[in-house]
Amino acid sequence: MRKKIVAANWKMYGSRAMAKSLCTAIVAANPTHCDVLICPPDPYLSDVADLCGVAGVGVGGQNLSEHIEPGAYTGEVSAAMLADCGAHWVLVGHSERRHYHAESNELVARKFAAALAGGLTPVLCVGEKLAQRQAGETDAVIADQVGAVLDICGIGAFEAGMIAYEPVWAIGTGHAATPQQVQHVHAFIRSQLEKEDARIARLTRLLYGGSVKAANAAELFAQPDVDGGLIGGASLVASDFLEICAAAR
Ligand code: PGA
Repeated sequence: MRKKIVAANWKMYGSRAMAKSLCTAIVAANPTHCDVLICPPDPYLSDVADLCGVAGVGVGGQNLSEHIEPGAYTGEVSAAMLADCGAHWVLVGHSERRHYHAESNELVARKFAAALAGGLTPVLCVGEKLAQRQAGETDAVIADQVGAVLDICGIGAFEAGMIAYEPVWAIGTGHAATPQQVQHVHAFIRSQLEKEDARIARLTRLLYGGSVKAANAAELFAQPDVDGGLIGGASLVASDFLEICAAAR
């Protein structure tokens, strides 16, 4: 069976000192039974890459510009710049980007394309809001979010990519989706990819994110279409994150 991946999304938390202590603890624990990816805030990318890159831990950005070429885009960071700081991965379309920065499905798809053009592997984040779930729109919302990337980038773009299903109502709330809810959406995403290319659909790693913690990780990771997790709050404490890694067997 292929290794699960446990990815840390530090969001806008941390400091250089925290980055150092977290990375030192992760490298010391050396969790080789799963792949580990750390997505710190951009200013800490180089530090994290220096501390963890050598240990085979992946490093990723949390966002990038849709612009590929350098230019007058104050405040933006390109894929090439993230790569220059040691990133190989980048989160794209996290719900906090979609909702607080009005990132549309189309913009997210352009960012996905920019990541690939800059040599990064994108992790496409998708997920429905509570009202959408209650209205029975979950599958349709996810289909549109994944579909926008398929339209602009094609199924080949998922050859190395990953998709993280993160229901908005589960992020940071302490209320994770149930393993059954997660499995349903993951199977739905895989079937959407399968219509385009069965081999790539099998290869694409599907992560679940939203209030994953040590207590629920093993059950979530045991679902057949769950290939790992994207961890927010619990990735900020080394022992919590490492317990989740331990559950990813
Ligand atoms: P959470 O965040 O684990 O704190 O719910 C997950 C995420 O936003 O990636």
